[in-house]
Amino acid sequence: MINKSVKTILLVFGTRPEAIKMCPLISELKKRNSIRTVVCVTGQHRQMLDQVLKVFKVKPDYDLSIMKEKQTLFDVITNIMNHIKRVLEEVNPNVVLVHGDTSTTFAAALACYYLQIPVGHVEAGLRTYDIWSPYPEEFNRQAVSILSQFNFAPTELSRNNLIREGKKADTIWVTGNTAIDALRTTVCSDYTHPELDWVGKSRLILITAHRRENLGEPMYHMFKAINRVMNEHPDVKAIYPIHMNPIVRRIAVDVFGEKAINGKEERIHIIEPLDVIDFHNFMEKSYLILTDSGGIQEEAPSLGKPVLVMRNTTERPEGIEAGTLKLVGTEENVIYSEFSKLLIDNNEYEKMSKASNPYGDGHACERIANILEFGKSEFV
Ligand code: UD1
Ligand code: UDP
Repeated sequence: MINKSVKTILLVFGTRPEAIKMCPLISELKKRNSIRTVVCVTGQHRQMLDQVLKVFKVKPDYDLSIMKEKQTLFDVITNIMNHIKRVLEEVNPNVVLVHGDTSTTFAAALACYYLQIPVGHVEAGLRTYDIWSPYPEEFNRQAVSILSQFNFAPTELSRNNLIREGKKADTIWVTGNTAIDALRTTVCSDYTHPELDWVGKSRLILITAHRRENLGEPMYHMFKAINRVMNEHPDVKAIYPIHMNPIVRRIAVDVFGEKAINGKEERIHIIEPLDVIDFHNFMEKSYLILTDSGGIQEEAPSLGKPVLVMRNTTERPEGIEAGTLKLVGTEENVIYSEFSKLLIDNNEYEKMSKASNPYGDGHACERIANILEFGKSEFV
């Protein structure tokens, strides 16, 4: 017998960052007696998604397994649309939760719209208002906001974006970002790793890069700038857990050389993607982070780690306001001078390394679960 008072919540996600921010929510929802929690991964990412699922011990109920090497936006969207209909019809959920701004997010929300299933958008209301930057994420999140009935905004600022766009106030809740919930479970004081032993007493520079609009010339500029600075500062070491995108890997080898990938470069190690526990602890031990990632911009402020954001826009102005993030674009000379400055100028470094918490208190998942279970976010 199906208990009619039990709501079915289906979570759909497919990439590493979505998984990192949805897995803590899955754990929270699974604690609720009146909620049946079902998980569908699209497999837009494979290895990088599985790393996260393993850490959080999440076993998806459905896996669409759509990833292909060098997949295009067309591949991702059409494959998800073709496979998800059956899952949505079989699960028949009361609400589908999607996260953020990936192609998985957009395709899943669109499929729900076609089947007239309510959508809840976790991490709603982030905006650059430039649909080409980040591409296609800005379009994806704006499109999902048109469709979603439950909008879980991480900050007041993101809530205000939605209100300005005409979303009804009673469909928006400010919850904090679930990234901070994840961060509370991963960083530990006695953490060790052989790569950190290699870094020793040197200052650690942590690097990541993957944005679609940066593939090509901008990424060459970014890596060349980093290389120049590394050559001028023998007291720093860099670790770059590289994204699995083969285009990113080719550019990294072109600029940093095979030696960096083989661990034979003296001060730059390019390594396989770290699992989220390792990565958060590497962040915690780092001196400075250079990235074009979105999620890292949320995590770094609460760890008090300066981030040079190698992009021209950000949908996360809270971290800039807090002083932890600086937008440095993708011009080689600008990145070179901003990176050099933070290694040389202690005052500048100190200004950026104050911990702050624009993304909440780490209880976002409880709030979201409360809204879904009781219709209100207060703790009960
Ligand atoms: C995707 C998201 C982006 C998000 C990023 C997080 C879209 C359009 N882009 O970009 O918003 O910031 O994930 O990392 O939704 N690959 C593997 N194994 C993996 C993952 C990727 O081999 O586990 C390789 C594949 O060759 C794949 C390529 O990387 O074709 C690109 O993956 P894709 O998901 O299309 O784009 P991302 O740049 O990862
Ligand atoms: N991350 C990770 N391992 C790595 C690099 C990043 O676990 O080697 C985590 C990071 O802490 C953050 C998320 O992955 O939570 C960011 O993912 P990514 O940069 O791929 O995507 P974006 O946030 O830009 O969408």
